[in-house]
Amino acid sequence: MSEKLPNRIAGREEWPAGATTIESVNPARPSEVVAVIADSPAESVDRAVEAATEAQREWARVPAPERAERISACGTLMASKKAELSRLVAVEAGKVLVEAAGDVQEAIDMAHYVAAQGRLPWGEMVPSELRNKMCWTTRSPVGVVGMITPWNFPVAIPSWKIFPALLAGNGVVIKPSEKAPACAEAFVDACVQSGIPAGLLNVVHGTVEPASAIARHPGIRAVSFTGSVPTGRKVAAAAMESGPRLVSLELGGKNAMVVMPSADLGLAVEGALFGAFGTAGQRCTSTSRLILHKDIAEAVMGPLTERAAALKLGDPLDPSTDVGPVIDHHSAERIGGMVAAAVKEGAEAVTGGAPTTADGCDGGAFFSPTVLAGVRPSHHIAREEVFGPVLSVIEVESLDEAIDVVNGTNYGLSAAVYSADLSEALRAVDAIDTGIVYVNAPTIGAEIQLPFGGTRHTGNGYREAGRRGIEQFSETKTVYVDYSGRLQKAQIDTHPLELA
Ligand code: UN1
Repeated sequence: MSEKLPNRIAGREEWPAGATTIESVNPARPSEVVAVIADSPAESVDRAVEAATEAQREWARVPAPERAERISACGTLMASKKAELSRLVAVEAGKVLVEAAGDVQEAIDMAHYVAAQGRLPWGEMVPSELRNKMCWTTRSPVGVVGMITPWNFPVAIPSWKIFPALLAGNGVVIKPSEKAPACAEAFVDACVQSGIPAGLLNVVHGTVEPASAIARHPGIRAVSFTGSVPTGRKVAAAAMESGPRLVSLELGGKNAMVVMPSADLGLAVEGALFGAFGTAGQRCTSTSRLILHKDIAEAVMGPLTERAAALKLGDPLDPSTDVGPVIDHHSAERIGGMVAAAVKEGAEAVTGGAPTTADGCDGGAFFSPTVLAGVRPSHHIAREEVFGPVLSVIEVESLDEAIDVVNGTNYGLSAAVYSADLSEALRAVDAIDTGIVYVNAPTIGAEIQLPFGGTRHTGNGYREAGRRGIEQFSETKTVYVDYSGRLQKAQIDTHPLELA
């Protein structure tokens, strides 16, 4: 099914002359090539920015409700193609089909949510301190938004960025992950078929060169990046070279689930399995630390280990598969290295622990769902993001200790607490320092109408999704209209200084 995917610049398909080619493959059967892209030069980004700048001038004049209609049409179109898109996500990103469908549904939801915002207030009327004067806020587009997106939510994450940016009246240049370019292409194709003007949405494929060209380009006012902390820091530094710019970063997690003795332990085991091994642990939100109160540790570990060991690895398209492959062999080896280092530090792999194979998947990049017991908060595995199906179990003696462990890493994306005691649960919600907290639900599964993002090294204060996800692609304009016909002075006329 291999397909050559050109760049999309100014509404035309382009293949940069002389560029090296890159193949995206099915991680379950890497000999199956899904798409071939070019590793585009910076020059392709220059032309994409030019096209986006040109198209954006006209798009900004289109009334927001009309922009919203095109976005809504895209949601409807994607819904009609959901099965086909989901299969593509399963084949290119290795997600089991039901989760691939969730990825696509997240983009459909985002389309309809963002479209609805097109008829909601764009600002607020605020009273003036002076007579015969009106003040309000409104929003204007930032201009061109540059986006660098990952492979793990290859449809949903582009939708989190593209739909809000378009609704806000901006042009877009996106470099999707070279590991899932066909998914991004299918998404952009749906946008264009739904009436998003040619030239407004430009796609430049490749790796480091186009990504750093997007980060640096002075014609790009805002850069939105989802990926790792080291790359995010480079993107932000590069983005500031040519002057101050808006840079929103979403950089992963070390998400913890706390289970207290009052909890429904069966529910906690279900949650831990889905949180840790769903999407083969390759979500920014994956549950990678399980913090168990010592009184229930044994009662959780027994069923957890047994259920994790019984998970069926296999082809993501096979409905009986529980866990698909990781993205590639390099990743499987990296995860194996982290597990081996954890065992050296004193952890024990009670199940899994190494790369493995799956029936019918020749050469697939699989990793056994792994539960590590005896992990200490100081171990590397308890502090660094794994991005694979590995759950580190840490025992604690109290809620306070659990909260200290949750907050004791550099990441602050998502956390969960399982408890049937309301005040205990709310104490945890209050004290946990992450952008998202769940009670009696795992750390994955954020909904698009609420803000998504994290504290500490997870990000730089921006939030995607929800209303803030649209605001991040807008400039706020504050307007004052004085119809008094005379010079009025704020702060001075209101409280004149009594001179003795
Ligand atoms: C990500 O892994 O970067 O909450 C996004 C979740 C999904 C989004 C994850 N709705 O797990």
